[in-house]
Amino acid sequence: MTDAQPFANYQNEIYFAGLGGTLPQYPVAWDDLEARAAEKLDAGAHGYIAGGAGAEDTMRANREAFRRWRIVPRMLRDVSARDLHTEVLGTPMPAPVMCAPIGVQSIAHPDGELATARAAGSLGVPMIASTASSYTMEEIAQANGDGPRWYQLYWPRDPELAASFLERAEKSDYQAVVVTLDTWLLAWRPRDLQNSYLPFLRATGIANYLSDPVFNRGLDGAEDAQKILKFLGVFSDPSVTWESLQFIRDHTSLPIVLKGILHPLDARRALDAGVNGIVVSNHGGRQVDGAIGALDALPAVVEAVAGRIPVLFDSGVRGGADAFKALALGARAVLLGRPYMYGLALGGEDGVRTVLRSFLAELDLTLALSGYTRFADVDQNALREVR
Ligand SMILES: Cc1cc2nc3c(=O)[nH]c(=O)nc-3n(C[C@H](O)[C@H](O)[C@H](O)COP(=O)(O)O)c2cc1C
Repeated sequence: MTDAQPFANYQNEIYFAGLGGTLPQYPVAWDDLEARAAEKLDAGAHGYIAGGAGAEDTMRANREAFRRWRIVPRMLRDVSARDLHTEVLGTPMPAPVMCAPIGVQSIAHPDGELATARAAGSLGVPMIASTASSYTMEEIAQANGDGPRWYQLYWPRDPELAASFLERAEKSDYQAVVVTLDTWLLAWRPRDLQNSYLPFLRATGIANYLSDPVFNRGLDGAEDAQKILKFLGVFSDPSVTWESLQFIRDHTSLPIVLKGILHPLDARRALDAGVNGIVVSNHGGRQVDGAIGALDALPAVVEAVAGRIPVLFDSGVRGGADAFKALALGARAVLLGRPYMYGLALGGEDGVRTVLRSFLAELDLTLALSGYTRFADVDQNALREVR
């Protein structure tokens, strides 16, 4: 029974616990989870996690885009046994779900990425570790154990530092490199500006830099302030172009995934550049306010890629139905973002695991109740666009 419905049984566990008087420790509904986390987090951390760029119009667009696509369930198709397993670029996963790269997780909980790594690892859900993590990529890998993991690169201005990050990631058994393309500069983020809150200035989220031999050259005996200044200078290189991608190829043998593709012409350029995958994403509305909702961008990108490389998706995914829709529109897997940060804020490792299990259960149930047993059979025919 457990195998036949890989995740849905979690709801039985919750109902049975209720017979013994135990209620769920964390809010089950997405909005309530966010609201409870907002109460717990301090204003700066909450603004940083929940906020977006500008008027947060793109954050809203991300959510609205999901409402315009509706699932049209099919009936009488024997959905008693489902299989959500998949593999993306050689990385096996129990469902087409990964943890999006999120930096500075210690602002949500002192265990930060270590908690996420343990929770994701315990479920076999791949974690994408950010360059801007509060713990080093080696510490995260250790906490993640045998769990599948990818490394997200913020491409630094210093090529030797970039090469060092890539080498460290490969040594720590990360299985792919995700290069984020939309954050060469930090966008205008009113909530963070209002709180004058940027965690990096407090040396939070720069563990990979502080632990790096290339970064540390010439910094013997330097004060924190000097290191932070160096970090600010080296964090990114807005001058890189499509041609520069060869540098990454030359410095890693891992599959390369470009994150932040929205335009179909960029998807074609990615194919021409010979990368191995892309993530359709607008960084959760945190970068270009006014940018297209990520789900609105997905179909054209999928069409441009024509099945030659996997297209992943994030930005605005909040539950099983959202994931189902993105997968039906051609994504090979979805990246869950802010929701697991709220789980982290409320309960560390346990909170992240609970959010992931709930998300997977809802996804399994949505698949079954819509009339399918595996995502390979789900395509745009499962949806209608409603305007
Ligand atoms: C607090 C926070 C920090 C983030 N840090 C990173 C990061 O370090 N690297 C990266 O590629 N994306 C980062 N992202 C973007 C996520 O990977 C993902 O694209 C985004 O969260 C998706 O939007 P959603 O959470 O609203 O679904 C961050 C997002 C948030 C909310």
